[in-house]
Amino acid sequence: MSKTLPSTRTTGAPQVRRMRFRFGEPEPLNRHFADGDIVLSHLTALLSAAFPPGEDSFVRSVRRVSGEIDDPVLKKRAAGFIGQEAMHGQQHRLLNDQLVAMGYPLVRVPHFAPGSRREKALIRAENLLPARVHLAATAAAEHFTTMLARRVLTSPELQSIASTSPEVRDLLNWHALEELEHKSVAFDVYRASGGGELVRIGVMTIPYVGAIPFIAAAVGLSILTDPTAWRPVRVTRQAVGVLRGPLVKGLQAEIREYLRPGFHPDDIDTEPLVRRWQEELFGSDGELLDRVR
Ligand SMILES: [Fe+2]
Ligand SMILES: [Fe+2]
Repeated sequence: MSKTLPSTRTTGAPQVRRMRFRFGEPEPLNRHFADGDIVLSHLTALLSAAFPPGEDSFVRSVRRVSGEIDDPVLKKRAAGFIGQEAMHGQQHRLLNDQLVAMGYPLVRVPHFAPGSRREKALIRAENLLPARVHLAATAAAEHFTTMLARRVLTSPELQSIASTSPEVRDLLNWHALEELEHKSVAFDVYRASGGGELVRIGVMTIPYVGAIPFIAAAVGLSILTDPTAWRPVRVTRQAVGVLRGPLVKGLQAEIREYLRPGFHPDDIDTEPLVRRWQEELFGSDGELLDRVR
């Protein structure tokens, strides 16, 4: 398969915004903070739990090959990517502290501190992978986050649900915007380091088949740990609602796009969406200007 570099449309370096959210202030978060929806609250909590260790791993995967990047523009984009992902992990950890205190025990599983024994074990495991496979896994994960981010930022229904917990909504909107801003960086670093199509597509087949069932099982387990959620009829109805709703319906088809030889993240044009949300959140009257440190 071809190793030719794609022509990329995204060339600007992602801007790192140093944010500080205040979860649980002045009002404490409701236990089912996604508008009382048990399934959506547990799903959001588990995604938030997975982000910090996942994003730290993405950063390490880019650093592993950074010596092979000669292009100064790509170097700057990689630095922007690393800065944005580090900040996402830091702010999600603050939310995850609250979620653990609120009674989401599964959030504790990937909630380990940088430098902890569990993190060291994860680093040892990922170093067993060839650097390009590690980076291909990051590029695949970035496609997932891009598709989810686009859904969060385009769905009035998801915005309405999120607005019941404004600080969580603000975190998710900021994170979603930056996922779109840096959506092609890991992909382009992968290509620039000589990564080919066979490994890129092969690595994606694992989450393509397994991610949604794995996450569904984790959400089910998380709900079982929450005695206030033991309402089978309501949970079943809400689970069907999530599967048929704007976050998940059609997601598999969007993930499949990535399996096409020659695919590039910029094939999916998100620039108008990015500009709209940059203005909304960080423009002259931006909603999140007071959250920038
Ligand atoms: Fe992120
Ligand atoms: Fe990302």
